[in-house]
Amino acid sequence: MPYRVAIIGAGIISRNHLNAMKQMTALRAVAVADIDEMRGRTVSEEYSIAYYDNYREMILTEQPEIAILALPHFLHEECAVWCAAQGCHLLLEKPMALNIQQCDAILEAVKAAGVKLMVGHTQHYWPANLQAKALIDSGELGKLIAIHDTRHVYYFSDSRPDWFLDKEKAGGGIMMNLGAHSIDKIQWLTRSRVTKVKASLSYEGVRGNVEGSGCIFLETTKGVTGIVVQSGYAGVPKDETELIFERGMIRLISARGVWINRVGQYVMLEPQVSSDPFVLQFEDLLQAIEQDAETDSSGEYARSVIAALEAVYRSDETGVEQTVDGE
Ligand SMILES: NC(=O)c1ccc[n+]([C@@H]2O[C@H](COP(=O)([O-])OP(=O)(O)OC[C@H]3O[C@@H](n4cnc5c(N)ncnc54)[C@H](O)[C@@H]3O)[C@@H](O)[C@H]2O)c1
Repeated sequence: MPYRVAIIGAGIISRNHLNAMKQMTALRAVAVADIDEMRGRTVSEEYSIAYYDNYREMILTEQPEIAILALPHFLHEECAVWCAAQGCHLLLEKPMALNIQQCDAILEAVKAAGVKLMVGHTQHYWPANLQAKALIDSGELGKLIAIHDTRHVYYFSDSRPDWFLDKEKAGGGIMMNLGAHSIDKIQWLTRSRVTKVKASLSYEGVRGNVEGSGCIFLETTKGVTGIVVQSGYAGVPKDETELIFERGMIRLISARGVWINRVGQYVMLEPQVSSDPFVLQFEDLLQAIEQDAETDSSGEYARSVIAALEAVYRSDETGVEQTVDGE
């Protein structure tokens, strides 16, 4: 019998989860909840699942084994704690919560209920990222020395929901949202955790009160250094990671592929054929549930991303380097 899955939040990311479930026999989407009736009903009709305007009513009525939480960041804690107490395994979208106190409340609720929690760090499933990780692990280019991660995307478009640009609701701007992916990508690729950061942010966006760019210098537990530069202002979109080793370099564009450089020029590697990243993510969650194991996007891991981001905001405010709490 497939696991019954309910999804909370019928926004942009909900379709990635629902499309992935359509490709799987082990999962069956049964219902969606959204306070925006039009959005909720549209998704409900498109995927032939029930619609609720209240997620608690949906969980109590449908009794799903798994709840997917695809909500604005300020609702992650409240919803995860409540759904865990109802006995649902959780796939909680990134970033885990607004701060580490909220992460701890979620971790406690999950432990008390004996359910599994996976946080949607989808970087772990992009084929190019997996290819780059295998190359790092192979040791072919020697020791990994440094990472340079750049992301440019226009962050203040009219189509971006208002809550993303409200510090209280989103926890921050481009760094909290897309910086979470960069911190995660660096930690996951290097199998280490960010220990200290020096960061500087800017607040020049045309909407809201969140940062529109940031520059972070960081170091990990393995001594790998990293620079993350993100800009949400007008410009040319870019999402590129360069990895510098003892004996060469790797260029990673998550959506496109991997290039390797040993002798002065980059050569693209044969792209890997892989399943939909959201299918791979569900497969990991199912394995964790069935084998009583943790994924590498566990609550404890996702908390480390929030701890690093908190250090980023502290460093910008104080102007000095910060260590990452809890490391
Ligand atoms: N993994 C990824 O690559 C990725 C990509 C995009 C977004 N996300 C994350 O997914 C989450 C959702 O992002 P999004 O872009 O889909 O946002 P969105 O604003 O498009 O969707 C959020 C939905 O939640 C609904 N909602 C608000 N309050 C609610 C409540 N109390 N009960 C039920 N529904 C409620 C809203 O009406 C909206 O439809 C965020 O955590 C975001 O960071 C992850």
